[in-house]
Amino acid sequence: KNTITVGLLGLGTVGSGVIEILNDHKESIQHKTGCDVTITKVLVNDLSKPRHLPNETTQLTDRYQDITEDPEIDVVVEVMGGIDHTLSIVLEAMEQGKHIVTANKDLIAQHGAQLFETSQRNSCDLYYEASVAGGTPIIRPILDGLSSDRISKMMGIVNGTTNFILDKMTREGADFESVLKEAQDLGFAEADPTADVDGLDAARKMAILSILGFSMPFNLEDVSVKGIRGTSLSDIKYAKQLGYSIKLIGIADHNENGASVSVEPTLLPVEHPLSSVHDEYNAVYVYGDAVGETMFYGPGAGKLPTATAVVSDLIAVIKNLRLGVSGTAYVQPQFTKQLKSRKD
Ligand code: NAP
Ligand code: HSE
Repeated sequence: KNTITVGLLGLGTVGSGVIEILNDHKESIQHKTGCDVTITKVLVNDLSKPRHLPNETTQLTDRYQDITEDPEIDVVVEVMGGIDHTLSIVLEAMEQGKHIVTANKDLIAQHGAQLFETSQRNSCDLYYEASVAGGTPIIRPILDGLSSDRISKMMGIVNGTTNFILDKMTREGADFESVLKEAQDLGFAEADPTADVDGLDAARKMAILSILGFSMPFNLEDVSVKGIRGTSLSDIKYAKQLGYSIKLIGIADHNENGASVSVEPTLLPVEHPLSSVHDEYNAVYVYGDAVGETMFYGPGAGKLPTATAVVSDLIAVIKNLRLGVSGTAYVQPQFTKQLKSRKD
């Protein structure tokens, strides 16, 4: 097949970035995959908004069935966000044999087992690199590059919005509400920014990292979470005077008793490398028994960085399709089995 046909769910910050990258990097993507990639249909909520579509023939729809039931569509890229409604659309798409790329951490953290089981049963790919740390590759390195090691700990900044807020409060003395508004305008924050501010978004990401890094089932409810709502400008100034910064830090530890995962505002000496993670950037230390300390650093949110991860996943799906190995990648069989037996 020389043309891969994509249905795009969502045309907001990330969706418009996906279109931009597919357009701007068209030739190199064609070179890497041996295929043309075309977005034939796009699902949105509000058909009346002005849109920038990939080409004149792209159909805009508010009926998800136009995409899930279209036999011509090979891959569904889900960048609409949300949980229950989105879950049913993605499951239906996989039942129709469509491969999935998603940036949705809520979905993976809360319904990973069902999604992985459905993808395996239907021999579909399910890729989700953008769900953690935006444009910074972390899922693939953990699943592939570090797969020979035993990961004992992961620690770092996994939410761009709260890092942006804390950083602006620290460096510019800005007030919380105005920086949150700026983060929303820049497209970093979730549709409901409560998930960012109260630490739930970071908790979801740490849960995903724990499941994948420690190869074990882990429930989101077991993450101990505290957000940044209670962190005032005077806390930040006082910490600064004492030589500390305040960062929202996720920590996942693994030992013989299982995993413990937490997200909370944390005092870090200003010399600590995580204190130098500015703006919406993320940074995660991953400690392996054999490899020692590794660090993944880069943009944790935003249109083009996040879309880079999404389109890279799409390229991986296309390569699998061309090699005839779909349904084998990005899913840990052991994890799926364990979760299934836990559910039973
Ligand atoms: P967004 O700007 O709010 O865009 C969401 C898009 O989905 C909009 O086009 C919206 O339609 C459409 N949509 C939402 N609910 C829908 C529904 N029920 N039916 C049909 N269309 C619907 O969101 P985003 O920032 O691009 O984020 C999308 C996903 O990527 C989320 O899961 C988010 O967590 C994840 N993500 C975002 C970032 C980031 O930096 N923004 C980074 C990593 C991951 P309308 O245009 O008609 O409103
Ligand atoms: N709202 C998220 C953040 C987007 O600020 O990190 C990236 O997942």
